[in-house]
Amino acid sequence: MSPSWTPDSWRAKPIKQMPVYPDQAALAAVEERVRRFPPLVFAGEARRLKAALAAASEGRAFVLQGGDCAESFNDLNANIIRDSFRVLLQMAVVLTYGGQVPVVKLGRMAGQFAKPRSADTETVDGVTLPSYRGDNINGPEFTPEARTADPTRMERGYFHAASTLNLLRAFAQGGYADLHEVHRWNLGFVERSPAAERYRDLADRLDQTLSFMAACGLTSETTPQIRETDFYISHEALLLPFEQAMTRVDSTSGDWYCTSAHLLWIGDRTRQHDHAHVEFLRGVRNPLGLKCGPSLEPDDLLRLIDALNPANEAGRITLIARMGADKVEAKLAPLVRAVKREGRKVVWLTDPMHGNTVKAANDYKTRSFDAILTEVTRFFDVHEAEGTWAGGVHVEMTGQDVTECLGGSRAVTEASLASRYHTFCDPRLNAEQVLELAFLVAAELKARRQPAGQRRVAAQ
Ligand code: PEP
Ligand code: CO
Repeated sequence: MSPSWTPDSWRAKPIKQMPVYPDQAALAAVEERVRRFPPLVFAGEARRLKAALAAASEGRAFVLQGGDCAESFNDLNANIIRDSFRVLLQMAVVLTYGGQVPVVKLGRMAGQFAKPRSADTETVDGVTLPSYRGDNINGPEFTPEARTADPTRMERGYFHAASTLNLLRAFAQGGYADLHEVHRWNLGFVERSPAAERYRDLADRLDQTLSFMAACGLTSETTPQIRETDFYISHEALLLPFEQAMTRVDSTSGDWYCTSAHLLWIGDRTRQHDHAHVEFLRGVRNPLGLKCGPSLEPDDLLRLIDALNPANEAGRITLIARMGADKVEAKLAPLVRAVKREGRKVVWLTDPMHGNTVKAANDYKTRSFDAILTEVTRFFDVHEAEGTWAGGVHVEMTGQDVTECLGGSRAVTEASLASRYHTFCDPRLNAEQVLELAFLVAAELKARRQPAGQRRVAAQ
């Protein structure tokens, strides 16, 4: 790293997507207060995640990253947090058991508040106001008061993240994630779906395996891996005044860590190599994500990787490709090839959500489940053709019974989008669609392990 990095060196660089705070003194006062708050995560945890991601970069693990597009302050509720967590656990169990690979679990949770927007303003009935940028910046209501960037929302964001993370830690370590609970993770409204049927079948087989292991002396009491799970948090590091205020020197290693989340990612709109977001993130030692959209060229990607990971440390960089089902083959293959040719150590994830957003006839922003599945399958195809490891999936999802993405086995139609469309930003997969996707991914993982001639393409 060049010696000129400091936690505030990003301030001298051009910056995109930065909200305009009318009261700069109030902003500075909030930053000063947040600087004194306790860290949300410890550096040692971030290092442990980095080691798990290093295994994924070598083809020895698979990453599951998921959660809301934007968390909302109003959704600070135990049931909502638990439902998202348990759907992620269900997915993880399907992937671990069906795909026979360790799964690194990473929530888009406990801090996913700031959103990049394609337009700075929004006009409704001739009235123009600043766009909603996420709950830690302004409010979604279409009034001048709500849409004014309010720095005290950063503090609220911190406390919301702290209390969400507290519950997630309790769920992960306190018995809820015990593998003996797999049957109970099935959500009521999903129970009658074909995916839930398959899930029950898998849970039965897992029960048998656990009984066998118990007979061999491996139980929840003797084996922490059965009783608890590692669950990590991540968000887009968009709001740099907040991220800087959460950045501390780790007393063990003497290195800088951003303590707002284990992994932070750079969005597709803020990944310019000479701009503020790249400058800030190159100096913290957390594992980093980088969104890779269709406009990213191989040379730019290599330059970004060099800026963010000059020592080529495994587990430091996770590339999250979000190309769109129709572009993924043409756009992803050259990136994968360049990274492989140059020997850069990375984890490749597919985000099959952000390149497949469309407007339905009734103006709802939506995504087709078919396009999502197609992008995932083509992602696996590209990696197979290039001889690289398809390292994971990144999804926008919820444990709630929403109708935001079209399709799935209990088909959500354009007409039914309106019935339970609750997202504050992008459309999410519901629990049933997520489970269906998990079975498809598990089948891909299993199939790609076998020589092409012996494959059974249908899910396990
Ligand atoms: C997101 O993940 O919600 C997002 C805005 O993604 P991207 O930066 O890939 O557009
Ligand atoms: Co989104």
